[in-house]
Amino acid sequence: MRYPPQILEEIRARLPTSAVVGKRVRLKKAGREWKGLSPFNAEKTPSFYVNDQKQFYHCFSSGKHGDIFTFLMETEGLSFPEAVERLAGEAGVPLPTLSREDRQEEVKRKNLHDVMELAAEFFESSLQGRSGGKARDYLAGRQLSRETQSRFRIGYAPSERYALRDHLAGKGVPVEMMVEAGLVHAGEEGKIPADRFRDRVMFPICDVRGRVIAFGGRAMSADVPAKYLNSPDTPLFNKGRLLYNYHLARQPAHEKGTVIAVEGYVDVISLSVAGFPHAVAPLGTALTEDQLTLLWRLAEEPILCFDGDKAGQRAAYRALDVALPNLMPGKSLRFAMLPEGQDPDDLARAGGNAAVERVLASARPLVDVLWTRELEAGPLDTPERRAALERRLRESLALIRDETLKKYYREDIAGRLSALNADARPKRFERQGGGGRRDFGKPQPMTPSSRLSVSPLLARNPLFAGSTAESPREAMILCTFLVHPELIQNHAETLADLELEGRSTQMMRSLLLDGAASGEPADPTVMMARLERAGLTGAAERLTALVRPGDRWMLDPHADPLRLEDALRQAITLHRRARTLHSELRAAERALAEEDNEANLAWLREVQNQLSSVEGAEADMDNAGALGL
Ligand code: UTP
Ligand code: MN
Repeated sequence: MRYPPQILEEIRARLPTSAVVGKRVRLKKAGREWKGLSPFNAEKTPSFYVNDQKQFYHCFSSGKHGDIFTFLMETEGLSFPEAVERLAGEAGVPLPTLSREDRQEEVKRKNLHDVMELAAEFFESSLQGRSGGKARDYLAGRQLSRETQSRFRIGYAPSERYALRDHLAGKGVPVEMMVEAGLVHAGEEGKIPADRFRDRVMFPICDVRGRVIAFGGRAMSADVPAKYLNSPDTPLFNKGRLLYNYHLARQPAHEKGTVIAVEGYVDVISLSVAGFPHAVAPLGTALTEDQLTLLWRLAEEPILCFDGDKAGQRAAYRALDVALPNLMPGKSLRFAMLPEGQDPDDLARAGGNAAVERVLASARPLVDVLWTRELEAGPLDTPERRAALERRLRESLALIRDETLKKYYREDIAGRLSALNADARPKRFERQGGGGRRDFGKPQPMTPSSRLSVSPLLARNPLFAGSTAESPREAMILCTFLVHPELIQNHAETLADLELEGRSTQMMRSLLLDGAASGEPADPTVMMARLERAGLTGAAERLTALVRPGDRWMLDPHADPLRLEDALRQAITLHRRARTLHSELRAAERALAEEDNEANLAWLREVQNQLSSVEGAEADMDNAGALGL
């Protein structure tokens, strides 16, 4: 509210919208308007319009609409005051002088900024100094190179009580300012104020312009009470309003059109090293509404990539609730799930760029995660419980404020509910453990029957449980047929009978079978064209990304045909075995729930054992592949 509306109008009047937008988008005159390719979406036919009289732009492909200020905010990630400052400068409109209190605040803020900068430099040089040896070893142990340390300005707070305080005092900083900056404890009566951060590796936290405004300090041993100690809220720093690494992530996020949110500082840094500089993190708290707004300023669909543990799942679900009221057409979140027990740092260090890519490629849309969460909240074996599910879902959807979007969500969820109920009905008459073969000619239900009761073992990964997600092996089988359509002839029946978990794999299968039956040549490019006509190119790309690195060679058009046959047969055998075991597992669990006796328990144990050995075989194949065997 610092800028009176007349000032903003003055700036708009002096700078034609087309001139501001024209710096980024090639515009052509179209009647009274200007027209160009959308800067928000990749498109071939222009659907982006600028109207100088009305002083706005409108993008039909993304639904975005706004004026010169929002344009800079959207395309360059500037904050509103930054956009105003910049355009006021270009327009030659002086901004109002601040009131005396404002000015005093401003001066103090500037000085606090100086204090924080001095502290950051002190920590950086301590890391390189005599006392920094242990911290340097610690960072080397975490594979954070010198170059990375200096890019993220990592430092070390020495263990002496007054190291920073004495250093800053020597630069003429009054103690009150150190306290106000959150660097020094106020100190009890009669006690000398001491440094807040001692013997910790220091991660500076910067504002959107890259100025240091706070710190996170990491203890180096496990016996220290707080693993991370963060700056308190200060006049410069409000932890719920900022994201770690926002300033460095802004540009790459705009370039890539996406942004990744993770939980920890080191996660951000490791991702950046692995080639994902567009990563940010909240600051030790659950994601707030303000932080979501920041994320949406960087991309339409930020990807949340939280730890693969219960806490990570809870954090994701909480973020979902914060997001619901704020969703807009085109504006949402995606959820990438990490393997159990891993955080992005572990993943990036163990598997590098490819592993992270694979996890990001399998990110699920918000609607899916919402559905899974409610589905897993309890059993659905009685009408009352199914009705309770429906009510929970309705309550969640009621939170969506945008009416158009709410309508689409209702339709989507209604579809899932009726598929679920259609799936539930015949189940009661089905022989236990049946898992009867599906007739391939009939359309398959959109939701796999596993949704009805999700077994803890099936739900290897908390968020993926009961999803329509394909397993890497499923993806590998389908992609292999796609690249080598000549194999379909020999395996058509096997392929038709294969139980597939994912919607995309099911659609792709029918396409492959139709293609093979059509008499067209068995040629990958012909198959690809078919796929493209069916709008499945995106699905094919996503599936390809899912294929494990160890299996990638199968997608080589020149792969050795004999070796290919072998690997394919083995994959199909394992896939079938795992599918059978999964349905048997569900049957065993149901039996045990109904009658808790030794025999049923033994049955369950047995199935679990077999399942883990099949999955072990899969892991072995992975290793063999990775070693080039
Ligand atoms: P995690 O416990 O997941 O740690 O905390 P991490 O990021 O994997 O840290 P490393 O890899 O062990 O160093 C995630 C984030 O939560 C905040 C920090 O911001 C941390 O990066 N946190 C965690 C705290 O603020 N205080 C704590 O004691 C622990
Ligand atoms: Mn970690």
